[in-house]
Amino acid sequence: NYYAIIMAGGVGSRFWPSSKASNPKQFIDILGVGETLFQTTFNRLSRLIPSENIYVLTNKKYVDMIKEQVPHIKDYQIVPEPEMRNTAPSILLGALKIYNKNPDALTLVAPSDHWIKDEEAFLETVQLAFDGVEKEDRLITLGIEPTYPNTGYGYIKYDKSEESQIKKVEEFTEKPSLKKAGKFLEAGNYAWNAGIFIWSARFIIENFKKYMPEMYGIFEKGEKLWNTNGENDFLEKNYHRASNISIDYGIMEKADSVYVIPVDFKWSDLGTWSSVQSELPSDDKGNTLINARLHSKDASDNIISSYNQKIVAIRGLSDYIIVEDKDVLMIVPKSEEQEIKELRESVMKEF
Ligand code: GDD
Ligand code: MG
Repeated sequence: NYYAIIMAGGVGSRFWPSSKASNPKQFIDILGVGETLFQTTFNRLSRLIPSENIYVLTNKKYVDMIKEQVPHIKDYQIVPEPEMRNTAPSILLGALKIYNKNPDALTLVAPSDHWIKDEEAFLETVQLAFDGVEKEDRLITLGIEPTYPNTGYGYIKYDKSEESQIKKVEEFTEKPSLKKAGKFLEAGNYAWNAGIFIWSARFIIENFKKYMPEMYGIFEKGEKLWNTNGENDFLEKNYHRASNISIDYGIMEKADSVYVIPVDFKWSDLGTWSSVQSELPSDDKGNTLINARLHSKDASDNIISSYNQKIVAIRGLSDYIIVEDKDVLMIVPKSEEQEIKELRESVMKEF
């Protein structure tokens, strides 16, 4: 009864120029390990979940890329969204299709672009969560011990003294202000939301009915069409009507039966070039190379990403991000990596 939904519709604009709308972060080998993040995610989940039960929710323009990267995937496993509407509509659609196939389905929802170091520990945690939702209907998320006040994450308040491994969530706050995030960190009884969810298909659908009735109403009309030829046409006509909202704001902040499993494996959402660098080896000067060879003097703590093992020669440059793609070469100080998204936009406007 194990199923999975892989969320693979985002754009990953902070990794420009390597990641772009035509080839987003999850479909590139951003770590230079010989596999894209999407491939790694698919393989990791297939170890616990029958691979024919793994559904990939994505924008319709990425369908061919997915088939190329996981050649044995069947057409029915790829669910093309006509438009980007964030994760809530996408997760509801996936749940409805899976429920239609198997009303007893237990479902893992996973992002396609994260890095997890210890696969065994990850799979053990997911197994624990599957057992947990099989025993009792609830919404389980995986929690990461926070280390700094990142405002791009969801914060989960829970009782640390509770003995059970699956802990009741007292409050879920998506993307708090910096001030709030700082307070949460100080308080000590918060975890970051990893964005990896476990629930039964039936229960998440019930939660949509309760907390997002409008969105549920739009999809309800497709009831007879799931997993038939009529599905695509229905989505083309109706998907855009669903509001553009994430599952975190739409359900997780509001629902009562939210639980968290604090995890002990290393996790990163690889949100920035620096976070990619922290997961990769570097030379004795702290330079990290991704598909590049380096010749340097007085150069340290740089991140250098090329393709085809290009030779990069640097003198007197430290703490920079140097990323080369077919058409673009970007050189930005690490201190400005949060601005890459904006940089991408202004470059696209100009050229
Ligand atoms: N299919 C589909 N359609 N996937 C999407 C869409 C969409 O319209 N939009 C985003 N995704 C995918 C992304 O590719 C990513 O794998 C995942 O859904 C999460 O979306 P993000 O846009 O990366 O979310 P976030 O990083 O702002 O926040 C989420 O993740 C954090 C941890 O990384 C939230 O769940 C936070 O609470 C959490 O802390
Ligand atoms: Mg993210």
